[in-house]
Amino acid sequence: MGSLMIVNASPRAPRSNSKQYIQMFREFFGADVYEYEVTKKQDARACAQAAGCTDVLLVFPLYADGLPVTLMCFLKQLAQQEFLTRPIVHVLVNCGFLEPRQNDVACDMVRLFCAQNGFSFGSVLRVGSGEAILTTPFAGLVKRKVKKLAQAVESGSPYSGSVTMPLPTWLYVRASAGYWLQYGAKNGLSKEQMATMQIEGRSE
Ligand SMILES: Cc1cc2nc3c(=O)[nH]c(=O)nc-3n(C[C@H](O)[C@H](O)[C@H](O)COP(=O)(O)O)c2cc1C
Repeated sequence: MGSLMIVNASPRAPRSNSKQYIQMFREFFGADVYEYEVTKKQDARACAQAAGCTDVLLVFPLYADGLPVTLMCFLKQLAQQEFLTRPIVHVLVNCGFLEPRQNDVACDMVRLFCAQNGFSFGSVLRVGSGEAILTTPFAGLVKRKVKKLAQAVESGSPYSGSVTMPLPTWLYVRASAGYWLQYGAKNGLSKEQMATMQIEGRSE
């Protein structure tokens, strides 16, 4: 392969889990890399840079069972970019729920984008419990899969993988509810306040 453009398409890119997955990916990836965070709002420039790359890796969170708007905007720009040879598009998606399959529709959306715009779809890694797994003893599981993804992108042999914490759903739900309630309490919010549509006093 030539060079790779990694796009951090999280709306909170500088403080995102996606950023941590990218750091992990780069530990295992040997070829040239350019990195772009969509929050820099320079999609046109990043797409022009992608035109010189053989591969693009989209790293993003699942939002409402689909793609965050920041990624939609980037893809819109990518579709307008002129290429001599179109890069292969790869995906590393993480979601808050336990099941990696929650990410399937978002992956299909990227596949559809590729089919409609003449890009080849390459490798994919779907991470469940993506918000939590990195700070648990199960972080090694995701590291192993990220390594596989990096090797696949570099070698050009497509890979499709998924990973999550090996826990029963009820335990994951109980632990994550406890985590968020504690987080709310630290910020002076009760369970009842967290259950409303109000965000910092506003509901619109
Ligand atoms: C607006 C919003 C919508 C979300 N929708 C989903 C969802 O549909 N399913 C899911 O499993 N997680 C969902 N999540 C959780 C994120 O995918 C998860 O927190 C992820 O780790 C965020 O990654 P990031 O830090 O790279 O942005 C959502 C989070 C937000 C803020």
